[in-house]
Amino acid sequence: MSEPYDPSVEGAEMSFDGRMSYGDYLQLDRILGAQTRLSTAHDEMLFIIQHQTSELWMRLAIHEIAAARAAIAADELQPAFKMLTRVARIFEQLNGAWDVLRTMTPSEYTRFREALGQSSGFQSFQYREIEYMLGNRNRAMLRPHAHRPEVHARLTAELARPSLYDEALRCVARAGIAVPEAVLSRDVGATHRADDGVIEAWRAVYADPAGHWELYELAEKLVDLEDYFRRWRFNHVTTVERVIGFKRGTGGTGGVSYLRRMLEVVLFPELWQVRTAL
Ligand code: HEM
Repeated sequence: MSEPYDPSVEGAEMSFDGRMSYGDYLQLDRILGAQTRLSTAHDEMLFIIQHQTSELWMRLAIHEIAAARAAIAADELQPAFKMLTRVARIFEQLNGAWDVLRTMTPSEYTRFREALGQSSGFQSFQYREIEYMLGNRNRAMLRPHAHRPEVHARLTAELARPSLYDEALRCVARAGIAVPEAVLSRDVGATHRADDGVIEAWRAVYADPAGHWELYELAEKLVDLEDYFRRWRFNHVTTVERVIGFKRGTGGTGGVSYLRRMLEVVLFPELWQVRTAL
């Protein structure tokens, strides 16, 4: 029998006394110390980790969308494309994660659901920030955060900035394609409403991809992002129906009925409508 392999012979560092190690850099004690179960139910661990990992991916999505928006505002579309692709991949990753959660049956979930009290993903401030960044700007959604002034201020600050889509439309206008002035100077604190002039602008892009290659690519990156986001919403509502049926949500909404309504949200309306017009 050969000796057990010792990686230190090829230089693997084995001593971290006083030196930064992997766990130090990633602050794993904090992250892995944050799975406090409120029940004895086995599946609560899955439920906590599923939400925490989703929040971590959302944190990255926010980081990427903010940078993509800034790049678009500076007409630096190539780096923006890379970041928008990453955001779509993050949603793809989150979509795959539902398969893990789906292994939890209704019987298993009911063993700890009471312990959640009124807490619900509905109160996810990062999710709300993503929606606000992308342009779904429902101010009513600020209210669950009134008790946390720093979170409330962060979301309110986001509502004062142009959304990702606002910046995309301004970029289209700077490239010489007519975008209605009323859209360009709209009150960015509200949700953008579909506008025929914007459909025309995108129609000009889609009618001549070679002539407007970058804007064409921008349009498709946005559609891609919304496509993956929609799949997340759909997977969520289907998982929820599978686990709690038509019970009310812990957050107080009608549950599946509320989430089905959210399936109707359209972030970049003219990019979908232009397809009918082509
Ligand atoms: C068994 C698993 C889950 C169930 C039964 C469930 C249930 C619900 C329900 C019923 C709502 C509507 C609000 C309410 O009244 O509570 C909701 C909203 C929400 N949930 Fe979940 N959820 C689950 C997993 C997740 C996961 C893993 C995430 C990831 C972070 C998540 C994120 C959200 C978000 C962001 C909302 C707000 C959606 C919106 O306002 O459009 N949920 N959930």
